[in-house]
Amino acid sequence: MLRGFLVIFLLSTIAVIAVFGFRGQKSTQPPTEVFPDMVRQMKVRAQAPLGFFADGRGPRLPVAGTVPIGYEMPKPDTPENEPAAVGPWSHPNASFSVGTDYYNTGKMGDHWGTGLPLEVTRELMERGQQRFNITCVMCHGAVAAGDGITKKYGLATVVSLQDERIRKMSDGEIFNTITNGKNTMMAYGPNIIVPDRWAIIAYLRALQRSQNAAIADVPDENRSELEKPASPPPAKGK
Ligand code: HEC
Repeated sequence: MLRGFLVIFLLSTIAVIAVFGFRGQKSTQPPTEVFPDMVRQMKVRAQAPLGFFADGRGPRLPVAGTVPIGYEMPKPDTPENEPAAVGPWSHPNASFSVGTDYYNTGKMGDHWGTGLPLEVTRELMERGQQRFNITCVMCHGAVAAGDGITKKYGLATVVSLQDERIRKMSDGEIFNTITNGKNTMMAYGPNIIVPDRWAIIAYLRALQRSQNAAIADVPDENRSELEKPASPPPAKGK
């Protein structure tokens, strides 16, 4: 019984190899496949010629004047292209993130940079306040203390932006959090244009100072207006 099976098995193995294997010739035909592989299909190969089009090329040329997504057009190196030289709303890059510079990414080389790349004016701060109140307050709260309305509805992970950690965080990293989100905070890059993100950071820094002010922040001539505290105020960091 077992012997009979072995003989039949051997014979059929030889038969299968005789029909399908060792054919002795090379073939450009697709191999026999029960389920055809997607890798073998009609397609235009990159940079390969193709008789279908009149010019004999497979890939088509881009329409004249096409600019790739995310590509920043080279600008002449003139003073008006300096970010600080013009108002934030007339800035040549007043748009969503393009390019890889600090203004667009918050990064200087491989590290988070710090400092506001726009001139801090009253206009910028007011814009920042308006944008912060529209896009951040419902979660982070009016003074960024992490007590926005969404907390009551169960968004428990909202953090206070008054924390030491966020006060010490570089502007570039905060810019990146606004742009790309962080953990449970979603990205706001698609909603907030680049100069508005910097305006929000400028305003957030003011909020942080407002909640952590020390007596040294009050100009000398205004100190007399403060009520004398019964005991010296607790020393707080900047
Ligand atoms: C829908 C709610 C929501 C909104 C709106 C929101 N955030 Fe957040 N944010 C969060 C949550 C939640 C976290 C905590 C993320 C975590 O670590 O899980 C957070 C964290 C942060 C952090 C700390 C990131 C870190 O590194 O730990 C910063 C900075 C921040 N938000 C800034 C902003 C700014 C600026 C805005 C407005 C443009 C904003 N957020 C809008 C929910 C929100």
